[in-house]
Amino acid sequence: MNMRQKKFLLQESELPTQWYNIQADMLSKPLPPLNPATHEPLKADDLAHIFSLECSKQELDQQHAWIDIPEAVLEKYRFYRSTPLVRAYELEQALDTPAHIYFKNESTNPLGSHKINSALPQCYYCKQEGVTNVTTETGAGQWGAALSYAARIFGLEAAVYQVKISLQQKPYRSFIMRTFGATVEGSPSMSTRAGKDIITRDPTHPGSLGTAISEAIELATTTPNCKYTLGSVLNHVALHQTIIGLEAEKQMQMAGEYPDTVIACFGGGSNFGGIAFPFMRHNLKDGKRTEFIAAEPNSCPKLTRGKFEYDFGDEAGYTPLLPMFTLGHDFKPANIHAGGLRYHGAGVIISQLLKDGYMHGVDIPQLETFAAGMLFARTEGIIPAPESSHAIAAVIREAKKCKETGEQKVILFNLSGHGLLDMTAYDSYINGDLNNYTVTDEEIAENLKAVPQV
Ligand SMILES: Cc1ncc(COP(=O)(O)O)c(C=O)c1O
Repeated sequence: MNMRQKKFLLQESELPTQWYNIQADMLSKPLPPLNPATHEPLKADDLAHIFSLECSKQELDQQHAWIDIPEAVLEKYRFYRSTPLVRAYELEQALDTPAHIYFKNESTNPLGSHKINSALPQCYYCKQEGVTNVTTETGAGQWGAALSYAARIFGLEAAVYQVKISLQQKPYRSFIMRTFGATVEGSPSMSTRAGKDIITRDPTHPGSLGTAISEAIELATTTPNCKYTLGSVLNHVALHQTIIGLEAEKQMQMAGEYPDTVIACFGGGSNFGGIAFPFMRHNLKDGKRTEFIAAEPNSCPKLTRGKFEYDFGDEAGYTPLLPMFTLGHDFKPANIHAGGLRYHGAGVIISQLLKDGYMHGVDIPQLETFAAGMLFARTEGIIPAPESSHAIAAVIREAKKCKETGEQKVILFNLSGHGLLDMTAYDSYINGDLNNYTVTDEEIAENLKAVPQV
């Protein structure tokens, strides 16, 4: 009988009760966000006119390595955590690789992705601070769905701006958001000044995370008792997502292995930071030499071809200036199906870690990601979100290298979500209707001209 163990789960008593704040352990600290008008560093109170005060404090906290997870959030986490750590034996076999491949399956909660891990604390803190309404942006709708659910259970009203092209490609997640009681509007829309300006400039604009963020911030800052919540990019979002890596660390111990390589897909950095930071602390503090790889679309290559600059986090320029690897805040990404990766910039912590050589990016063409998603589905039986398939494609590249060299590397990746509501994309791939998109150096250089001079 085959006794190999495929799945590792934690007991309730073993669940982490704190998040890990990597900023405290970083040797070169991330640069501060700046006020766009004065270029002065911002304090938590300045950020708190957009975000909850607690998230604003977490955003700038460079001192405390461990931050308690509130009991009310832990209680909700217990509904679906721990998530399984799974050894991908079938994928290994199909690739005929000596590598050991593990994945952390964040697709098992009812919302279908890792996004719920930050939606819960963000809504909890808003509620604690007397906020009644929250706004947000969403790409493919994973974050919007998670936020709508979290808002509902903490008694908040939610308004979501979903990237127009994604709303058209995949309407089902907007139905989920509305089922939880949120209002959903395609971005750019005519309901905000930012949206109207964008449509005036370009009536066929398909929308991007940058346009949806502008609209959501505008609504939050012009509505009493309303805060903006974000599903990616920011330090506090990655902080909440470290629950993934902290669990995975214990589960890898149960498996008796430690990762040589950690991989995740990359939109703004929250699932990457979530799985990577707890392991990276051992590189920073204990001399471990794990390699960290972030997989981005080659049509939106901020990590591999962007520039490290202070830039806005949104299209209209409503956010503070953030020090980030960017393609320029009005970069208009191609209409790839991985809607959650269509973002022009990388989070501040990750940008600093990339600059300092603790991690690197790989850019992957759309068709390779779908081929990887198909192979994963046919071996492991889980249909991955198109975003997550970027990680799988990067894993396959690494596993193939191991086959060539004979190295028995331990590879851990984050399966950030399932793709069961992305089936039109898979259908198009199977029918041969999908394309690769590339962006030229000239287009990137042209777009970077819009980055403010700091
Ligand atoms: C399933 C999934 N994975 C990954 C991402 C990318 O976001 P992040 O880089 O913050 O993890 C998204 C964003 O919408 C997503 O829905």
